[in-house]
Amino acid sequence: MPWLPPLTSAEFHELRRLFNEAAGLSFDSSALPVFQQRLASRLPLHDLDNFRDYLRLLEYGPEGGAEMAAVLDLVTAGETYFFRHEEQLQLLSQVILPAVAQANAPRRRITIWSAGCSSGEEAYTAAILIYESGLFNGWNVRVAGTDLSQERIEHARQGCYFQGAFRCTPPAIRDRYFVTSPRPDSLSRQRHSPAIWQIQEEIRRCCQFSVVNLLRMDRPSQLPGLELEALSRRVDVILCRNVLLYLDPKARVRVLSQLYDRLMPGGFLLLGHSESLKMLGTTLDLESLHHDLAFRKPERPRRGGEL
Ligand SMILES: C[S@@+](CC[C@H](N)C(=O)[O-])C[C@H]1O[C@@H](n2cnc3c(N)ncnc32)[C@H](O)[C@@H]1O
Repeated sequence: MPWLPPLTSAEFHELRRLFNEAAGLSFDSSALPVFQQRLASRLPLHDLDNFRDYLRLLEYGPEGGAEMAAVLDLVTAGETYFFRHEEQLQLLSQVILPAVAQANAPRRRITIWSAGCSSGEEAYTAAILIYESGLFNGWNVRVAGTDLSQERIEHARQGCYFQGAFRCTPPAIRDRYFVTSPRPDSLSRQRHSPAIWQIQEEIRRCCQFSVVNLLRMDRPSQLPGLELEALSRRVDVILCRNVLLYLDPKARVRVLSQLYDRLMPGGFLLLGHSESLKMLGTTLDLESLHHDLAFRKPERPRRGGEL
């Protein structure tokens, strides 16, 4: 790679501002060397040899939007795996799914949304839990997975995973819902990994994946393939785990209010362990369940609408 002048502190602050504007992301000063290292690979693609010009391209260039999408892939953390946070998933299968099965029995439809699903493990886990529960046979089962990253959404659509993604998955579940398959070309970077597991067709069919920037849900052009408006007040359970912690407080509140609008009255919201609504100071009308690991939208708004 050609030598580049180091990313200056002023350029770093400008990048932070742009990433915050684009997706609500918040980075502390320790991210400077990470930006420097990861963005260095982008400059030669545009025949640029310094970060100042790259910033101009991001902000004003004709390819700025596409470049911003590509660079957000590089600076966001996509860490995820199947059956992450086991105790919260127990709450989902033992308390939440039975409650939805009871409430939705007349219409026989369940909708779960994994918002910030990365490469799809969380959405597929939810679909597997729906099947495992045996409560929804013959129902219209819909699991939506959305993420900022085009590359992760492509991965989710392919539904192919290496062994590491199953580190918390009981082997019997993996063997029941996945089949070993030849490695697709797009995953050939990980040449030395021995086995690839592909999600079974029956589970994949009820899961739909789309690129969605949670901060820009009010812009319909950002939602190809998924009509989030059609989900308005229709989602029974939203999983938005380990996403808000990367956003600044204003963006968190904005995203939460969008998620809240799409939740059914009586619907459930699951956040990551470190993400508590109390910490966010939100005024959303949500009831906390089981140590703040799950929240419920009341059937009818309560007076005052405060936590
Ligand atoms: C650490 S992963 C969490 C994956 C999964 N929810 C889990 O808990 O295992 C965080 C994901 O949030 C996504 N993300 C961050 N900001 C976002 C935004 N503004 N809109 C949509 N997705 C976002 C990132 O692209 C990344 O894939």
